[in-house]
Amino acid sequence: MHAAPAFAVLTAPCLSGIFPCFRAGRGMSPGPPDQEEARNIVIPALMPNYNRADLAFERGEGARLWTADGRRFLDFGAGIATTSLGHAHPHLVKAIAEQAARVMHVSNLYRVPQAEELAARHVAHSFADSVLFCNSGAEANEGMIKAVRKYHAENGHPERFRTICFEGAFHGRTLAMISATGNPKYLAGFGPPVDGFDHVPFGNMNAVRNAITKETAAILIEPIQGEGGVRPADLRFLQELRAVCDEYGLLLALDEVQTGMGRSGRLWAHQWAGIEPDVMSSAKGIGGGFPLGAVFAKEKVAQYLKPGTHGHTYGGNPLACAAGNAVLDVVLAPGFLENVDRVARHLWRGLLKLAERHPAVVERIQGAGLLLGIKLQDGVTNTAAQDVALGEGLLTVAAGMNVLRLAPPLIITEADADEALELLDRSCRKLTPSTAKVAAK
Ligand SMILES: Cc1ncc(COP(=O)(O)O)c(C=O)c1O
Repeated sequence: MHAAPAFAVLTAPCLSGIFPCFRAGRGMSPGPPDQEEARNIVIPALMPNYNRADLAFERGEGARLWTADGRRFLDFGAGIATTSLGHAHPHLVKAIAEQAARVMHVSNLYRVPQAEELAARHVAHSFADSVLFCNSGAEANEGMIKAVRKYHAENGHPERFRTICFEGAFHGRTLAMISATGNPKYLAGFGPPVDGFDHVPFGNMNAVRNAITKETAAILIEPIQGEGGVRPADLRFLQELRAVCDEYGLLLALDEVQTGMGRSGRLWAHQWAGIEPDVMSSAKGIGGGFPLGAVFAKEKVAQYLKPGTHGHTYGGNPLACAAGNAVLDVVLAPGFLENVDRVARHLWRGLLKLAERHPAVVERIQGAGLLLGIKLQDGVTNTAAQDVALGEGLLTVAAGMNVLRLAPPLIITEADADEALELLDRSCRKLTPSTAKVAAK
């Protein structure tokens, strides 16, 4: 018996007008050929939704990256606070390579021992009783908000579905998460915002209390606002949020996508405040550059995510969890977090001196751990500062409120921090307000 060629299957319904015709050519795009050829396609094959620097890296090692033409950069952006172990960390590379050679993906139709192990280790080192794996920060936040709503619905309060969020927040780019973020810039053009997110000023306890209604289910906060300008929440404010959640039966939901996995000098940033959330999202650093996200939850919340309520095809597959376990091996090794804290304080002190030396460029230093922000003076834009630093061989990331963000790999040494400080010093010397404007163009 001969199987019909695949194209024959497509041709028959195509002729009957049900399916679009597939034909060879760029993008295999459907549509009548003459109309297609008349279109003058100028869009790049890779969609233009990112503002990319004209740089492509060929190889990395630790906190350094090299382009194909041999230029070397000190990476203080870490793929936006993601490559927690730096580039090509031997333990992470080995774990991924070995797992890829055995079994990469099986779906969640079966047990995944790597995920069971990773979840058990995260439970042992966090407030959580149970962990759900996904693939990104936005997905983790979606899962977390679904868990929050399910908790209240299962406890007889389906009307409690609203979440109090903060101005300046960033929770990701899915439809619900642009609503949780609340920034009109990210919402524009994407239709009506998803209902259920109320925004109050960051750090304002009166505003939080005033925003609580019978429909409120949770308070969602980043312990340090990353994209919003590297703004740490006051530790007292986090404690007060915990107390108000207890008072009104709300869940405290922390977005530790950027702040977690050691970036603050503790495994989780909320630990500095001595509080525990009810639910927490994580991503970025937990996979060390391999896509991995997670929802952490207390049993009282996690118990309602029964089979069929939520899920992912890839979430927690053997390869991603092998990466997650390897990252955890390194971050939990004795002395690792203490070293992050020590290097972070060294960098902080150096940045304060930088601010003193360049008051016309730097307004102040903010942030915590290895998530630090250089708040620039009005005449200097963060994009200009980013460009000038790039020219000096230092990779940084712009953040809101005209802040230049530093989020290096957690494995940096004091010598790496000194090198970055030297490059920033040179950048500041070039960044007089007039040259900053020129560079911004
Ligand atoms: C605090 C926070 N939450 C969520 C996200 C979204 O994560 P992802 O881009 O992996 O979807 C980010 C990304 O920058 C973030 O910083």
